[in-house]
Amino acid sequence: MEHKAIENSKNTSNLVLRPGLEGVPVTQSAICDIDGNQGELNYRGYPIAELAAKSSFLETTYLLIWGELPSANQLREFEEAIQMHRRLSFRVRDMMKCFPESGHPMDALQSSAASLGLFYSRRAIDDPEYIYDAVVRLIAKIPTMVAAFQLIRKGEDPIRPRDDLPYSANFLYMLTEREPDPLAARVFDRCLILHAEHSLNASTFSARVTASTLTDPYAVIASAVGTLAGPLHGGANEDVIAMLEEIHSPDKAKEYLQRAIAEKSKIMGFGHREYKVKDPRATLLQSFAEDLFARFGTDAMYDVAKAVENEASPLLGPKGIYPNVDFYSGLVYRKLGIPRDLFTPIFAISRVAGWLAHWREQLSANRIFRPTQIYTGAKTRTWIALDERTKN
Ligand code: COA
Repeated sequence: MEHKAIENSKNTSNLVLRPGLEGVPVTQSAICDIDGNQGELNYRGYPIAELAAKSSFLETTYLLIWGELPSANQLREFEEAIQMHRRLSFRVRDMMKCFPESGHPMDALQSSAASLGLFYSRRAIDDPEYIYDAVVRLIAKIPTMVAAFQLIRKGEDPIRPRDDLPYSANFLYMLTEREPDPLAARVFDRCLILHAEHSLNASTFSARVTASTLTDPYAVIASAVGTLAGPLHGGANEDVIAMLEEIHSPDKAKEYLQRAIAEKSKIMGFGHREYKVKDPRATLLQSFAEDLFARFGTDAMYDVAKAVENEASPLLGPKGIYPNVDFYSGLVYRKLGIPRDLFTPIFAISRVAGWLAHWREQLSANRIFRPTQIYTGAKTRTWIALDERTKN
């Protein structure tokens, strides 16, 4: 049977295919601004370094979703509402206990996030009260879900959130069953700020596409979590640690890079569609890693990472390929005692803020996404009965 590519009957001659939609604007957005040549990133006009230094994750979440920094009262109300909604229904916990413990925590998170749609009835999605409640529930419960699955898969019962602990300290407490050192909690909170939003990356695009059908916000977040799970998006920091361990010592970095580049393999934690210089978040994460190493002792893989960055500069720099957000984040999480397969779920805990900001923005001027394609399949063909088909 011949499968020759033929032209679609529609006139497609004026259509230009842009694989990966590179450079194709598909929406307008006032949430996040990236200058990939200067290495600048702003949320709602505020530089990321300033937010990481002065804000908290919940304040940044408020800013992203409602567009303005909250007043002291607004922030207190938001924090209190989130604290009240951190707990999971026993039904969600029981459901999670049925998940296979060998399953990836991202799959557990996607399923658990989607299940929230079963518990909170679908009301008018333009009702401000419904929007506020959904935002609060998702920001509050996603960390509890990640921590709960971690304990469940170890054969333990999830522990209750602690009302006296702020957001990030409470997450680390639920995960490790120990109250964290204040520096560890602050560094973790700053990591959440850095990962909270990054314009139309694959998972955010996925969130907007799902939002554009006017489905519920839990389905929007579940679809974004599924998209984030892939190694070309959220999963790269797990692979960075594996790569550093494989290289093992700084003097092997050059040889590894030369071989990988000759074999046309990607160096994990390098390269970005938007940035042609070092990702500003990588610079900040590297400084967070150094703060942790100064306090809690270094990590031998940090020397390997620095050697990889140095040796990669003349090899990949001329193509605009530099460390991205994933290159140093794994080293930070490792020092915080976080297991490697939770790195991406932690990304999701943070990015839910950006996804929800895009959900609201999409609904404010919605048109359902329905791109087109250039058809390359066969024209109408004649049916062949089963017994007349030639065997392969
Ligand atoms: N290591 C080596 N070469 C890389 C590279 C990397 N990490 N990233 C991109 N390149 C090269 C490609 O081989 C390609 O070279 P060519 O033009 O000679 O064929 C060129 O740069 C363009 O790569 P492409 O994959 O088309 O870029 P993209 O914009 O589609 O992809 C990423 C962006 C992030 C998916 C890509 O850089 C990547 O896979 N990086 C590693 C995974 C990673 O760290 N992901 C986390 C992103 S935050």
